[in-house]
Amino acid sequence: SVTRHYTFNIQLQNVTRLCHTKSMVTVNGKFPGPRIVAREGDRLLIKVVNHVQNNMSIHWHGIRQLQTGWADGPAYITQCPIQTGQSYVYNFTIVGQRGTLFWHAHISWLRATVYGPLIILPKREWFNADPEAIINQALQTGGGPSVSDAYTINGLPGPLYNCSAKDTFKLKVKPGKTYLLRLINAALNDELFFSIANHTLTIVEADAIYVKPFETNTLLITPGQTTNVLLKAKPYFPGATFLMIARPYVTGLGTFDNSTVAGILEYESPLLHSALPIKKLPLFKPTLPPLNDTSFATNFSKKLRSLASAQYPANVPQKVDKRFFFTISLGTRPCDKNQTCQGPNGTKFSASVNNVSFVQPNTALLQAHFFGQSFGVYNSDFPFNPINWYNYTGNSPNNTMVGNGTKVLVLPFNTSVELVMQDTSILGAESHPLHLHGFNFFVVGQGFGNYDPNVDPKSFNLVDPIERNTVGVPSGGWIAIRFLADNPGVWFMHCHLEVHTSWGLKMAWLVLDGKLPNQKLLPPPSDLPKC
Ligand code: C2O
Repeated sequence: SVTRHYTFNIQLQNVTRLCHTKSMVTVNGKFPGPRIVAREGDRLLIKVVNHVQNNMSIHWHGIRQLQTGWADGPAYITQCPIQTGQSYVYNFTIVGQRGTLFWHAHISWLRATVYGPLIILPKREWFNADPEAIINQALQTGGGPSVSDAYTINGLPGPLYNCSAKDTFKLKVKPGKTYLLRLINAALNDELFFSIANHTLTIVEADAIYVKPFETNTLLITPGQTTNVLLKAKPYFPGATFLMIARPYVTGLGTFDNSTVAGILEYESPLLHSALPIKKLPLFKPTLPPLNDTSFATNFSKKLRSLASAQYPANVPQKVDKRFFFTISLGTRPCDKNQTCQGPNGTKFSASVNNVSFVQPNTALLQAHFFGQSFGVYNSDFPFNPINWYNYTGNSPNNTMVGNGTKVLVLPFNTSVELVMQDTSILGAESHPLHLHGFNFFVVGQGFGNYDPNVDPKSFNLVDPIERNTVGVPSGGWIAIRFLADNPGVWFMHCHLEVHTSWGLKMAWLVLDGKLPNQKLLPPPSDLPKC
């Protein structure tokens, strides 16, 4: 293993898409940002230098950050933001992880343009016979807060958008070869279906964890999730072209972008100098499930299983120390003075976990914890169960108000946690991609309607459940996860739909140090930004 150095200059760059040029915040002037490639066991030193007016922080999404919580990145949770003219070196080692992850800004909505792939090669090449193609699927916001002007693949909107035919991602393949595609949903607010016309995709990895391979025509990927697929090129003629497209899966009420991003899969000659004529065939288009196809979503997520092999076992916690039940709700808060609010009856939209809408502190929780200065920053009384229990009924209750606060839930080191997250219908049901920092978790169960603690655990999968860092809590249903709190620090958990995060659908776990030296949070680096 080696130490790899990167420098991320946060700078403005003019980018033209859909015939509009705008100045946007980028890393090193690139959109999407630079690719980080490392090998399992490597140490990364990434110096982030902020040259723009916005405050900045970067999160290495899915990296465990064992003992190095200071490098995790969410602003006001593990660090104060990097201010204009300042820099911070993110310093962490990749332990026991391999596959496709990504990095993104973790402050305000800046991840719209500040993101890029983070690829961890295995110690021993697993796909060494295969050439590799990289697709990162991403969204670029242009318009209002929740509706973008276009989705993009590697920053390119593709031919189905106005003015964008030349901005099309193209993947060239040779007949008979197998390609590994790394898909990252970096979109701000939309779960996406993805498909390639006339081709099946073999799913082999999710959130940097190998899965039992299975074939599908279409995959579903939520913001914050990554998926690796194998694509087998067929014996098509050179010049044969197929569209790959992505479009949202929508369960909620709000506005969304119902547009389609497309890239092109194009066949090349199998030989270097081929006599085969280039045939101009019609462009084949795939069909995707309907926008709100929840049964597709359910079936797809149930097919995802850990590889659970001798080499890559699924270490599912078999015994549980603590059980928690969280409701995940959209709701309302009173409107602030002198504001006009968009929510029902003049309220403002809010979102909560156990009816606590998270209030961002003005200093970082991890610093406050480490230096014993939590007073006035956070309280350690995050409720174990919902304060008011709202059954999922399919209807809104009369009172849609939720509480708020900056609360953490404290866990002793090595607590084995079972957490059930229940979607409610306070303001209508909606699927929420919940992301946990600092851990992978196992998805041991899921269902629709209300979770029944007497019945549902009987059908939990404790053998080969999918292990991941982001999971969709089904619209009008629940999900059960298990994880071992073996990583000391403050770990954010939030909906990866940026609009819901902004509304407060987030909370933090505080995992205490263990007794042994390798179970303690290391001290902060000297360049840790100050608030
Ligand atoms: Cu990818 Cu807290 O985020």
